[in-house]
Amino acid sequence: MLVNLRDICAIAEQNNMAIAAFNTPSLEAVRAAIGAAEATGYPVIIQHAECHENIAPLDVIGPAMVALAERSTAQICVHLDHGENLSYIRRALEMGFTGVMLDGSALPYEENVAMSARAAAMCANFDCGLECELGSLGAREGDVLHGGDTPAGGTGATYTDPDQAREFLDATGADLLACSFGTVHGLYRGEPHLSFEVLEQIRERVPRAALVMHGGSGVSNEDYHKAIDAGIRKINYYTYGVKYAGESVAELVDARRTAGTQVYWHDMTIAAYERLLADFTDVMKVFANGAAPLA
Ligand code: 13P
Repeated sequence: MLVNLRDICAIAEQNNMAIAAFNTPSLEAVRAAIGAAEATGYPVIIQHAECHENIAPLDVIGPAMVALAERSTAQICVHLDHGENLSYIRRALEMGFTGVMLDGSALPYEENVAMSARAAAMCANFDCGLECELGSLGAREGDVLHGGDTPAGGTGATYTDPDQAREFLDATGADLLACSFGTVHGLYRGEPHLSFEVLEQIRERVPRAALVMHGGSGVSNEDYHKAIDAGIRKINYYTYGVKYAGESVAELVDARRTAGTQVYWHDMTIAAYERLLADFTDVMKVFANGAAPLA
């Protein structure tokens, strides 16, 4: 069933857990995320990033995401990740998405506030939850698509300023805040060093907002749990899932070539789907942070 972004984060808050937010720019990923939610009994967020338009256009994958979420027994929010243009956000809202993110983090502060406030007004017309970002992770989501990786701490990362976070949320009315405290998008070249102090200060200043960790791949289970205990309610996860699925497909191709047998495209989609399902299931159990299944 479809659930609003605000409501799914309220469930996370009540249970001191984080909801896994999987980027799903393929049917295999959408099915795996929903399958993992149904298998584990935890709610899930399936999300499409604007910069993944070249993998799957919103017009194609968006309606499929909404339809499959609606008919599932699991609690699912269909979310737009890293929306950069208000017209793109409007298209997702009209399609029935129950959450959107406006990412104005690369803009000067005042422009980020103005654009986020316009997104909040749009979301109010659709009764849809809004996530905004303040501070910068350094590497952007799209970089991952081009094989990008970043050193721990990010290149050009700017941690979210806790005082500015309060001012930002008051001025924009956003429901969720994506904050920068040491994670990065994509693969890490070193050990990530997260600043839980920054996170705790943000949480103290903005108790009503749900906090979001972007760059959820490559963080230790211990750090996931510390971040959740410090108030993270949504964790965005993409790179490791597609890395494992890609490795699975490569192994299949190698094995078939060694055996001298044909490999068909559908064999690859099945291998990718199965690997994503296994990984998403594991990840959701970790993000549950000890909470019992809810469905
Ligand atoms: P990773 O690609 O590092 O898992 O991060 C995903 C993300 O933050 C999407 O917004």
